[in-house]
Amino acid sequence: MNIRVAVVGAGGIASDHLEAAAKMEELAPCAVADVQEDRAASMAARYGMKAYSDYKQMLQEEKPDIAVITLPHFLHREAAIFAAEQGCHILLEKPMALNTAECDEIAEAVSKAGVKLLVGHTQHYTETNRAAKRWIEEGRLGRLVMMNDRRHLPYDKPTRPDWFFERAKAGGGILTNLGSHTVDKIQWLIDGRITKVKASVDYFLGRGDIEGGGTAFFETSKGIPAAMSQSGYPGVPIDETELLFTKGSMKLISGVGLWVSEGGSYRQVEVSIQENPFVLQFQDLLDSIREDVEPSCSIAYSRSVVAVVESIYLSNQSGCERIVNQGGEPIA
Ligand SMILES: NC(=O)c1ccc[n+]([C@@H]2O[C@H](COP(=O)([O-])OP(=O)(O)OC[C@H]3O[C@@H](n4cnc5c(N)ncnc54)[C@H](O)[C@@H]3O)[C@@H](O)[C@H]2O)c1
Repeated sequence: MNIRVAVVGAGGIASDHLEAAAKMEELAPCAVADVQEDRAASMAARYGMKAYSDYKQMLQEEKPDIAVITLPHFLHREAAIFAAEQGCHILLEKPMALNTAECDEIAEAVSKAGVKLLVGHTQHYTETNRAAKRWIEEGRLGRLVMMNDRRHLPYDKPTRPDWFFERAKAGGGILTNLGSHTVDKIQWLIDGRITKVKASVDYFLGRGDIEGGGTAFFETSKGIPAAMSQSGYPGVPIDETELLFTKGSMKLISGVGLWVSEGGSYRQVEVSIQENPFVLQFQDLLDSIREDVEPSCSIAYSRSVVAVVESIYLSNQSGCERIVNQGGEPIA
């Protein structure tokens, strides 16, 4: 099979998608577009593709089977709708869009066009996380009773593109960008949804108009409470999920390792060799196209992640707990 892939946006994450596509026999990367023409040109040269500065022209001329959208968040809605209208299946980077209203517009366009859309929630495809999910499902540590997720890193690093610091373009700061990974990880690990949010957000980063950090308490459809704390200020970087069970505990560092305790200190669990998460992500989309089913990071699921992030900011503004806007989706 020769499925043609075009990439919209030749920035930081685009090469991860292209590396994966280049490894997969059934995929043929054909073109890349970026308003920064030098970026498109050098990426095109590296993977033997055609370069464009206008992604609409690229999609109309190339008619790829799959459009991979790796644009700043405020352009996800416009590009996903345009790609759907051209009949392309879509791999859209996280977060799905700036807010749930935009997610609903994308959902409508995708449904009208009869194409598949997968949002790149890479946490699902990381082997350490898959191993943690198996431990939870097998009940080897008893019943999961709570989760604490901490992610700290200096957010204002010189290599981060400027748009990440503008709320109108990024939607928010660390809580939007990395928070969507945490929200996804919590929901996916428990196979449920976050239903209520109480959050406190701070704005002391000193660059742009985004937050510097925040903390949130979540109630979930599985009755398992979770807490998330993220700081973008300088300090000791951490990316750790602690899971507490009735018969033990677990520490997950995504992409690094998994540790369990059945009482006493942690021991590291062997995790099988990691397949490239971006290959697994493409495979998920290909399966959904072939079998005409929803991918695991479906529109409804990805919208739910945006809805939780939206609730974090709304809870901070109002000082009150927020019920997450599930858009009428039945919650398991
Ligand atoms: N899954 C992950 O782990 C992961 C990691 C990093 C980034 N991301 C996501 O990927 C997306 C892109 O992030 P990034 O770090 O690659 O950003 P980036 O700024 O490095 O890349 C975006 C590119 O889009 C280009 N662009 C902007 N407007 C355009 C337009 N109208 N037409 C064509 N090109 C345009 C920019 O010139 C830039 O090269 C974001 O949604 C981000 O959250 C996901």
